[in-house]
Amino acid sequence: MNSKVTEIKALFDEKLALVTTSEQVEELRVEFMGKKGSVAALMSELKNVPNEEKKAFGQEVNVLKQEIETKIAEKRAAILEAEQQKLIDSAEEYDESLPYDIKTGSYHPITLVQRDLERIFTSMGFTIENYSEIVDDYHCFEALNIPKHHPARDMQDTYYLSTENQLLKTHTSAAQNAIMKKYGAPLRAIFPGRCFRNESTDACHENTFFQMEGIMIDKDISISNLIYFMKTMLSEVFQKDVTVRLRPGFFPFVEPGFELDIKCLNCGGEGCPSCKNSGWLELCPCGMIHPNVLAHGGIDSEEYTGFAFGLGLTRLAMMKYGVKDIRTFNSGSLKSLSQFKNE
Ligand code: DAH
Repeated sequence: MNSKVTEIKALFDEKLALVTTSEQVEELRVEFMGKKGSVAALMSELKNVPNEEKKAFGQEVNVLKQEIETKIAEKRAAILEAEQQKLIDSAEEYDESLPYDIKTGSYHPITLVQRDLERIFTSMGFTIENYSEIVDDYHCFEALNIPKHHPARDMQDTYYLSTENQLLKTHTSAAQNAIMKKYGAPLRAIFPGRCFRNESTDACHENTFFQMEGIMIDKDISISNLIYFMKTMLSEVFQKDVTVRLRPGFFPFVEPGFELDIKCLNCGGEGCPSCKNSGWLELCPCGMIHPNVLAHGGIDSEEYTGFAFGLGLTRLAMMKYGVKDIRTFNSGSLKSLSQFKNE
């Protein structure tokens, strides 16, 4: 073997044995394999080698090159492993008794109100139903006794999908028909959900809000049952005895239809700014289910009657937590939304 090749090989092995860090490996690689390194210098010696030895010399240098490359790669891998092991060994042990500060999320105020209502209604024998946010014209309007071109549709403009007849539901009443068909009579169900209307927003209006619909259908259901359930539910929600009153209200899917008010919780009926001095707060439209709606749902209106109500969950959350601007709920602002707790 050429003496220079042997010399460089020995020098490399000697230096490699002293290397302990990744940086040193890289330095050694440059020293021997770099453009101006020892191996490149060795190659430039080729011209001085006698012709008959050139081939053997070239082969020896190539073998040396490969050997150096392999040894460098091996050393690099070994050092990396050692470094990682060192990190693992030096890592502090996990101490679960140490204090920590992890921010946990909180429930959205509407979820809190919804859960409260679900608890109250399930205790009164109601089932909770889920219903799609995308519905068709039939479920949102026709089945609720609101035919095409009925003026009641004007107040419920919404977002129409490009798929024929599909729209974002404007009220939770849109689920009434499907639920009647699913269970038949007798029936007690509530169905909370997100509703949409094509509205410009301000402190009192949102294009996306939540309602909770409820229906109870059985033999001999009357307005007294409606008043009883509403009063019980609202007293539970507000954690005090509430006084309710019914005023006539028009909704095509109930007959008679009502607006249910509660005596202002702030002033007890004396009159104050939050009830606009009337002493009453408008809370929940409701009524006795129209025979046409029962018929659409496949229920015999001669045998069964029922009541329905459409509680504004968003509105209720505003009242319960004293939220002045409805837009707070969809704002995504944690500063506002994380302060609500269910007491
Ligand atoms: N769906 C109506 C709305 O959003 C509210 C409503 C009124 C629901 C009367 C009812 C009801 O169940 O009986 O405007």
